[in-house]
Amino acid sequence: MKTFTLPGTQLTVPNVVLGLMRIQEKTDEEVRTLVKTARDAGISFFDHADVYGSETHGCEKRFADAMQLTSSEREQIVLQTKAGIVREGPYFDFSYDHIVESVDGSLAALGTDYIDILLLHRPDALVEPDEVARAFDDLSAAGKVRSFGVSNHTPGQMELLRKSVSQPIVANQVQLSLTHAPLVAQGVAANMQALDQSVSRDSGTLDYCRLNDVTVQAWSPFQAGFFTGVFLGSPEYPELNAVIDRLAKQYDVPAIAVATAWITRHPAQMQVVLGTTNPERVAAAALGSDVPLTRAEWYELFRAAGYAVP
Ligand SMILES: NC(=O)c1ccc[n+]([C@@H]2O[C@H](COP(=O)([O-])OP(=O)(O)OC[C@H]3O[C@@H](n4cnc5c(N)ncnc54)[C@H](OP(=O)(O)O)[C@@H]3O)[C@@H](O)[C@H]2O)c1
Repeated sequence: MKTFTLPGTQLTVPNVVLGLMRIQEKTDEEVRTLVKTARDAGISFFDHADVYGSETHGCEKRFADAMQLTSSEREQIVLQTKAGIVREGPYFDFSYDHIVESVDGSLAALGTDYIDILLLHRPDALVEPDEVARAFDDLSAAGKVRSFGVSNHTPGQMELLRKSVSQPIVANQVQLSLTHAPLVAQGVAANMQALDQSVSRDSGTLDYCRLNDVTVQAWSPFQAGFFTGVFLGSPEYPELNAVIDRLAKQYDVPAIAVATAWITRHPAQMQVVLGTTNPERVAAAALGSDVPLTRAEWYELFRAAGYAVP
């Protein structure tokens, strides 16, 4: 497993991490097997959110109840969680009270006294950057949160936060897979009036993150669209799967590792956030951490996924 020091922190992190959005209905034994498989594969970084689960903090609590981590086990892993979405509505809330209450709820559910990284989940149109800064300062001073980041944010939204927030924004978690790659694809087709691909949907988020040492984390790395099912093995992507399968054979890894490698191969040093609850798939995907796809292979996958290289 490839690891690196997460810029803006002292943390050594893997470039493949495990998301726990889908564990609510899993038994203790299933959660433990999933996490142990991840740990054995070098995945020491776990992604949560207050809203994951059938009730608020549901998946965080499911994880903690199943794992019963000792303090030394807790120290060996990175726990990341998110705040800012209100389920009832839904709506987004970056107010001081909401952020602080959400973190307190996450600490209680996770059974820990600190969160390594807190992400603001989706941009709040009514954000008051000074209020976010005050929440971050208080959470940091209390030792409750060690580092801060965002999710689904544009460069302008990050700049607005940075005007008031003193801590570095260490991560931006965004939707990115081979078949859902506007973040990458727009730049490749910049300035092409006839191509929908050349329309910017995120105002240059990827370049901004690279320029400012904000680590990009790719959520839904195998979903074709927005929770529409995986592209791996899907009859809707025959050309893409043919290329994936050929490269999988060539590198002697499972197909899911090639889909992972398409993201990890990018020089932005991104983290892939796996969402599978199947231990075999976790182990297989982890093998994509360091597959040395050539430039030609990376672009072949990109074209086979339907993107233009004009
Ligand atoms: N920041 C955000 O806004 C945001 C949004 C969504 C998610 N996330 C994070 O990202 C993580 C990953 O998201 P995701 O779960 O949508 O990603 P994903 O890994 O692309 O999708 C996993 C889902 O696909 C299913 N699946 C079916 N066949 C599969 C195959 N061949 N290979 C892999 N998976 C297969 C899995 O089922 P099995 O469990 O049966 O394998 C699981 O339900 C979440 O856990 C969460 O931590 C963040």
